[in-house]
Amino acid sequence: MNNDIEKIIKDGTLAPSGENCQPWKFSVSGDRISIYNLPEADRSLYNSKQKGSYIAHGALIENIALSAARYGYDAAVELFPTPAVPNLVSVITLKKATPKIDPLYQYLEKRCTNRKDFSGKKLSTEQKNALIAAARETGFGELRLIDDAPSLAKLAPALAVNDRLIFENKLLHDFFYGHILWKDEEQDKAGGFYIKTLEFLPHQLKGVQMMKKWPVLKIMNKIAGVSKMIAKENAAKYAASGTLGAIVVNGDASKDFVNAGRAVARVWLRAASLGLSVHPCTGVVFFNEQIKDGGAANFSEAQRLMIDEAYKQIVSVFGAEGKTIPMLWRLGFADAPTARSMRMPPVITHE
Ligand SMILES: Cc1cc2nc3c(=O)[nH]c(=O)nc-3n(C[C@H](O)[C@H](O)[C@H](O)COP(=O)(O)O)c2cc1C
Repeated sequence: MNNDIEKIIKDGTLAPSGENCQPWKFSVSGDRISIYNLPEADRSLYNSKQKGSYIAHGALIENIALSAARYGYDAAVELFPTPAVPNLVSVITLKKATPKIDPLYQYLEKRCTNRKDFSGKKLSTEQKNALIAAARETGFGELRLIDDAPSLAKLAPALAVNDRLIFENKLLHDFFYGHILWKDEEQDKAGGFYIKTLEFLPHQLKGVQMMKKWPVLKIMNKIAGVSKMIAKENAAKYAASGTLGAIVVNGDASKDFVNAGRAVARVWLRAASLGLSVHPCTGVVFFNEQIKDGGAANFSEAQRLMIDEAYKQIVSVFGAEGKTIPMLWRLGFADAPTARSMRMPPVITHE
């Protein structure tokens, strides 16, 4: 059992997480895996009340369930079983069963984020239906897809508000640069974005390195409007992506974000199985959560207005009034990503 559990946990940690922060650790006792959140892994404005990390935990749980079935176990999942220990996100109990290989299992390793330009080709009806069904299978979220030009034209600049604010808000800027892994050999030692996965073109990379220094960036924004230029370029890239998708759920409690993460994982794995490229563009929806949860002071008034307007636009295009949007993606066709992000070895203690 122990050997299987280690393999199952390792498969689990192939799950996506914001900035690849991998906010989890594990404790194993017999047939039980206790999974703890690490709040310090992501202190960013994207992670108000750990909501971003909870989505990652949901994806981790979905991966674990797929892997457990492969190794011949049913996985019974309990969320937040001990209110006095809020970081204990889930306890998964494995029970021997006949091995069952879900067709999505083989995509755990293949799923990834692709930040390249997409071709603009839209998904076929079959592809759309397969992704919508994947979200539905979990029972935890609905996938809504948008591919008409007028709606894409409204959504694209709204999503790109994130990219502008990374270069205008010092907290976001410092977090972003603090989480870039510049060297290959740093990759399995810390969470963060491996620089090559960010897909900057050689001429852009130089600028990105210069803008690491906040005072330099402030001057560049003043004389050349760099942050606005970046947002404009990225908005064009988003509008030309072909299809944008959002997971829409009803609640906004911690467990709703964990459960939404299960739908996120399944849709993403299904997309990988269809040969589709996937790129989350979620900043604005998480800034909205940050402001809603009392973190408005982390943004200037002008920034809050920008976020509010962008968020309203996103909600209106996806028809998600009164609901929560825990994930937003570009979905489509692109060359393979230049590089893949790696994972740190999971921390597992045995009780
Ligand atoms: C909740 C959540 C939000 C994310 N938001 C973004 C985003 O806004 N932009 C982006 O480029 N990647 C985003 N990502 C992708 C992660 O950066 C990515 O999953 C992580 O770096 C690991 O890489 P991989 O998906 O290739 O395994 C998000 C992932 C999660 C789970």
